[in-house]
This record gives sequence, C-alpha cells and structure tokens, in this order.
Amino acid sequence: MTEKGKLRQTVFAGAAGLKALAVRKTELPEYHTDELIRIVNLCKVYDTGAVKVIGLNNINLTIKRGEFVSIMGQSGSGKSTLMNILGCLDRPVLGHYYLDGIDIAALEPDQLSLIRNRKIGFVFQSFNLISRMSAVKNVELPMTYARVAKKKRNERAVELLERVGLGGRIHHMPNEMSGGQRQRVAIARALANNPPLILADEPTGNLDTASSFEIMELFSALHRDGATVVVVTHEENIAAFTDRIIRFQDGKIISDMKNPGPVSEGKTKNI
Ligand SMILES: Nc1ncnc2c1ncn2[C@@H]1O[C@H](COP(=O)(O)OP(=O)(O)OP(=O)(O)O)[C@@H](O)[C@H]1O
Ligand SMILES: [Mg+2]
Repeated sequence: MTEKGKLRQTVFAGAAGLKALAVRKTELPEYHTDELIRIVNLCKVYDTGAVKVIGLNNINLTIKRGEFVSIMGQSGSGKSTLMNILGCLDRPVLGHYYLDGIDIAALEPDQLSLIRNRKIGFVFQSFNLISRMSAVKNVELPMTYARVAKKKRNERAVELLERVGLGGRIHHMPNEMSGGQRQRVAIARALANNPPLILADEPTGNLDTASSFEIMELFSALHRDGATVVVVTHEENIAAFTDRIIRFQDGKIISDMKNPGPVSEGKTKNI
C-alpha cells in the first residue's frame, strides 16, 4: 500500500468506524496494563501468487508505556511490515498483537478503525499532509473524524502547532513550508487525538541532518512528556536519540538493546 493510501485508510476508515459504532453503539474493550504493546509469535507472509514472501518470522516483543524505541535493519528486513501491524493498518493473521490490552486480531473492522483514530498517531516518511489545507486544518482533521467540536479542535490544533514550534505558521500551506516544518505539522496531526502510541516509519528519511535532529529532539520531548514513541530508521545517529534499539534481519529480531546514553538535549534551539 502507498503511504498516501495508508493515510487515507487511517483517517477515513476512522470516520467510517465511528459512524458504524454510532449506529451500533459498540463499545471498545478497555484494559489497563503497563504493557502498551505485546506481540506474540507474530508471522506475516505476503502471498504474491507464485511466491510467498516472509515479512515477519515469529516476532515476540513487548513495549511498555512511555518507552522511546527505534527499529533498525536493512531494507526488506520487515520494519515497515511490523509498523503496519502496530499501526493497525494490517491485521495480524498468524500470532497475536495486543495494543493497550486489546486483542487486535479479534476486532471487527469498525472497531479497528476506531483504534486507529484514537490510539495511534502515525508519522510517515513523506509527511502526507493534505496539500490544499493549511497547517492548522491538517492538524484538525483527525479531530474532525473524532467529532470534536469545531472551536475545541481549532484551539487544540493551534496549541499543538505551538508545541511543535510552528505557532507562527498555522495558516501556511504545506508547499509554503520546509520539509522539517511539514514533518512537524504531521507530528502535531499525529498528536491530535492524544493517542497513547506514536509510530513513525522513517520520519527523517526525506530530511537533511539538521532537520532530522530537530525532529528527533521533538520526539524526545514528547517522550519526556510521557508519550510512547516507536521510530523506524536506517541511521545510527537517529536511533541514538532513543532509549532502546531493536534490530531486524530477514523478518526476525536479531538484537534488542537498551541505549546506555541516548542523545537528549541541545542539538537544536527551536524546540
Ligand atoms: N505488499 C507486499 N507484497 C509482497 N511482499 C512484500 C510486500 N511488502 C513487503 N514485502 C516484502 O516483505 C519483506 C519486508 O518488507 P518491509 O517493507 O517490511 O521491509 P523494510 O524493513 O521496511 O524495508 P525498507 O527499509 O526498504 O523500508 C521484504 O522482503 C519485502 O519485499
Ligand atoms: Mg520500510
């Protein structure tokens, strides 16, 4: 699926899910545990007709609330496949994924949409902002689908843009902003419904080094404020910002280590 497709699925399926839930008055099962993510014996096989490609090969992984994790590995090692499952863009078929205590494989499509809208903020490599909408309107979008009142969502969008250092650019269109600024808007949008989980698949992949560090400083700041953040990257100096580095190879986790000295503050002045 293209990144635009994923975003559309995330945002618009959220709306559809809410609508369906409103009709059926279904409640999400809620559980409380210090494990935000628990993956058990997860496999993913892509069936491309003649050939079957293994995307994930028996993954077991737990991420606690408030962790700041990076996922590394060569191209094709399964990073995005895992992120798509963590982000509920792809459903686990073999094995289990529990998010916030909820068994994702057991959910109906409308419940899955609601989970995406409320529990996950996804940040993409190519920002995926709606080009005809200003920064503030882009950030309001997930709140529109969550049916937050107009005034409230505008206030929160402005507040979030201030938080990511864009208070002076709320009415700018995406094409009037730099790559780093666009990614800040995308991060503000990911935070819109205050999701417990922030996922970012190569969020600095299209940015220069200085902007990349600024974005990682921003994720660090969110982490310090209590967010759970999972970032995919190819760069060691980007993973260096995180507290835990998980490495993939051929669809398997080959190492999972605590980072003894994450880069914390002082890389940029703008945050
Ligand atoms: N839609 C698909 N259909 C068939 N095979 C796929 C599909 N998506 C991924 N794969 C395969 O699954 C494996 C893991 O791919 P994945 O996209 O997760 O890798 P990645 O680690 O994110 O790589 P990159 O660093 O290039 O983004 C690869 O062998 C890839 O070719
Ligand atoms: Mg990838």
